[in-house]
Amino acid sequence: MDSNHGWPEPIIRVQSLSESGTETIPTRYIKPPSDRPSIAANSSPLSIPVIDMSAMSREEMASAMSAACREWGFFQVVNHGVRPELVRHAREIWRRFFHLPMEEKQRYANSPTTYEGYGSRLGVEKGACLDWGDYYFLHVLPSSLKNREKWPALPPDLRDITDEYTRELLNLCGRVMEAMSIGLGLDPTRLQESFGGAEVGACLRVNYYPKCPQPELTLGLSSHSDPGGMTVLLVDDRVRGLQVRKGSDWVTVEPIRDAFILNVGDQIQSLFPCFQVLSNAIYKSVEHRVMVNAANERLSMALFYNPKADLPLSPIQELITPDRPALYKPMSFNEYRLYIRQRGPRGKSQVESLKTSQ
Ligand code: OGA
Ligand code: NI
Repeated sequence: MDSNHGWPEPIIRVQSLSESGTETIPTRYIKPPSDRPSIAANSSPLSIPVIDMSAMSREEMASAMSAACREWGFFQVVNHGVRPELVRHAREIWRRFFHLPMEEKQRYANSPTTYEGYGSRLGVEKGACLDWGDYYFLHVLPSSLKNREKWPALPPDLRDITDEYTRELLNLCGRVMEAMSIGLGLDPTRLQESFGGAEVGACLRVNYYPKCPQPELTLGLSSHSDPGGMTVLLVDDRVRGLQVRKGSDWVTVEPIRDAFILNVGDQIQSLFPCFQVLSNAIYKSVEHRVMVNAANERLSMALFYNPKADLPLSPIQELITPDRPALYKPMSFNEYRLYIRQRGPRGKSQVESLKTSQ
């Protein structure tokens, strides 16, 4: 492997830039004015729905989640059944990982072929504008891809805690998939079956956004919709940063202690036939982005729950009618992801470009 691990140019850790004490960020991180966060200008008073999973019948939960997936593509869940101590422990241990000496982290430097390991960019376009964040990416499912040797060996409990955390989250995903299926008027297991049943995939990306001396000029993660099926996101409970697109506004998500943020990915959206994306008839994958700040670092953990990688996904038959034909070309998640991995985050342009011409 070449000295850049397959990246088009040497990798610079954002954490190193941040810790160098520079007061200006390198030009590579400066976004064009239309993409900058403009924090005060368009902060919307709206907020994404919050669903208390302990306070509802299965049907009530199905209709609440279904409404949220249609209107927002995003919601938060509280009382979700995952132990708060485990959630906090997982976040804390990963924070400790990012505070280990750089040599220790560099042992896991990733490459654009699998992205597994410690990384600092998405996409391989030379000279591309970069985001103000580092991350760690690992496979959880299928078990043939899960390799704990590729997970950090330090801090010592990290692998076990990550195992337990991801197991609990997969269980939560199963319950949410059922509710989302019922909310479409389908059998509880239908959505999961369309993802390949027990053969679903899952990956974890832990995002680390160091302090940034000029947060108004850049983003921790550029606008994107998640390419996979569904995402369960744990955010930093002290530091805001996530913004969700609502029409032409960006809504800043208020962190709720021990809650998870769930959102629909492109693969769920692609199960729907030809509705207008804005019609509230489909579960949509909605654009979101991350702001950084000068005073605090921020850590988040995204579990991506994905369809079986080589299964060609096409719209659910029961949702297709003569005036609502299939909209997307059948494509497997593997093929789709390859496309995303070349280009990095680009709003919703990728899922849009997969439409058949009609
Ligand atoms: C992601 C993501 C949001 C955040 O990892 O895909 O959107 O708050 N993260 O870090
Ligand atoms: Ni995302």
